[in-house]
Amino acid sequence: MKVPPVKGTRDFYPPQMAIRNYIVDGWKAASLRNGFEEYDGPIFEYLKMYQIKSGDEIVEQLFNFTDRGDRKLAIRPEITPTLARMVNQQINSLPRPIKWFSVPRLCRAERPQKGRLREFFQWNIDIIGIDDVLADAEVIFTAINYLQATGLTADDIVVKISSRKMLAAILKEIGIKEKDLESIYTILDKRAKVPDDAFEEMLAEKISDADIRQKVTQLMAAESIDSLSDIVSLSDKANESVDELKKLFQLLETMGVTDFCKFDITIVRGLAYYTGIVFEIYDKQSQLRAIGGGGRYDNLLKQFGGPQVSATGFGIGDCVLGILLEEKGLLDGKENNRQIDYFVACADKQFAKNALEITTKIRRAGFSASFSYKATGLGKQLKQASAENAKKAIIIGEEFEKNQLAVKDLESGDQTLVDIDKFFSQL
Ligand code: HAM
Repeated sequence: MKVPPVKGTRDFYPPQMAIRNYIVDGWKAASLRNGFEEYDGPIFEYLKMYQIKSGDEIVEQLFNFTDRGDRKLAIRPEITPTLARMVNQQINSLPRPIKWFSVPRLCRAERPQKGRLREFFQWNIDIIGIDDVLADAEVIFTAINYLQATGLTADDIVVKISSRKMLAAILKEIGIKEKDLESIYTILDKRAKVPDDAFEEMLAEKISDADIRQKVTQLMAAESIDSLSDIVSLSDKANESVDELKKLFQLLETMGVTDFCKFDITIVRGLAYYTGIVFEIYDKQSQLRAIGGGGRYDNLLKQFGGPQVSATGFGIGDCVLGILLEEKGLLDGKENNRQIDYFVACADKQFAKNALEITTKIRRAGFSASFSYKATGLGKQLKQASAENAKKAIIIGEEFEKNQLAVKDLESGDQTLVDIDKFFSQL
């Protein structure tokens, strides 16, 4: 019986693995360029950790199990709770600001569809301990800095930005109670994803007052930050958040990335812990879910038993990103990144042992080398050398007795005879 792979998972054969590595290497390089250090945590945690503050949606999507010690555990659906737990554990000794990144493998029991799987990789960038919109600007810049490095432009992608703090202040002004905010956010988060009537229906279930509902709908259609005051009169609290958002856009201007950024009040985020600036990154042409998203979460560390420490960050998954890069032709040639320094061939079977010795010596010297298991004709071996994308072929023949070997540059075709000692001393 052939066992199929589990629904929503992926097998990474060498070409797919090469693409995954290309994406992950780009994430890591962008993280380091922007001053972040790498961390990781376990792939499973106590189930209750996700039930504390991530929100209902993610809790429904957990893969969870009970271990032999009767502990209720879950495979991580995101790494932010792990990050909060880890930082809390060493809060007094960690040098600030904490600028960390990670590329965790995550699992969510979602209905698999294009761009949405049950197992995926997610690039995370977080800054902890900086209560300044400059940190939000820096994480947004880091995301754009990576996306630009792949070849994507402002014609391809957009970072949609809003503020939960501002939304909360305005919603309260409209007449929504503090205790209802979280459930309203869940509905508003769906605004851009569902048809108008479905949205109205969801809203009606939660808000019985038609005037309040109408205001919320108007608010969700606001095109710019400045137009908000035409819809509602802004309280001091709301104005404070408006100013913060404006400052964020100024900083993004200084960083030269405003082309990529747009105010969008429908961005609320699905996770419950966000408290301030929130953003999501989208492909401009496609209907796929977000490439990534994040924002400020100033209370999560405290909710996890630590002190009040502000934090901001994002997660970008590899699925939607991979689809987009592929569509734009930006993965062309990336599926085969195999390259070796030397392929050691022998002109005759009798030199097979010498070829193995030379291969071993080259590998010991720190270079990559390969050889043919069967000492077939030289032509066939050189074909294998090209298939393995070798830079040079070493050919061992009659001259080996004179302590010489032929080095063939597989790109130019030039071939020279070299003393073996000299070859190794020049490696
Ligand atoms: P999130 O919005 O749940 O945020 O996920 C961020 C990104 O991960 C999504 O935009 C998507 O690209 C990818 N992603 C999520 N679920 C799946 C899935 N089932 N299949 C494929 N890709 C998926 C968070 O996870 C936050 N913890 C991010 C964060 C870090 N906020 C602050 N710091």
